Amino acid sequence: VKITFITSDNETITLEGKSGSVMALAVDNGIKGIDGDCGGVCSCATCHVHVAPEDMSKTGSASQIEADMLELDDNVNEFSRLCCQLEISDSLDGIVLKVAN
Ligand code: FES
Repeated sequence: VKITFITSDNETITLEGKSGSVMALAVDNGIKGIDGDCGGVCSCATCHVHVAPEDMSKTGSASQIEADMLELDDNVNEFSRLCCQLEISDSLDGIVLKVAN
């Protein structure tokens, strides 16, 4: 499964992931701006990304708990997700995520 990140420096990095969360994949590969401070339990928003509009159908939108967390972030928009809540699976293949931190 290929997942592409665009960092705040406009660097485009495509990673290959098999399982686990998208946040863990990003942290393991040192994607700038994805820190995953809370370890993936939806309580820090340091894994905030903006999903490419055309990929929203693949990721779905944020859950209620996630949306509540995102609301505390200034950079929130309708494409916001916390990527620790995105589990890598075939359905996510090819998505593009813009790092929102
Ligand atoms: Fe903390 Fe995603 S890693 S909310």
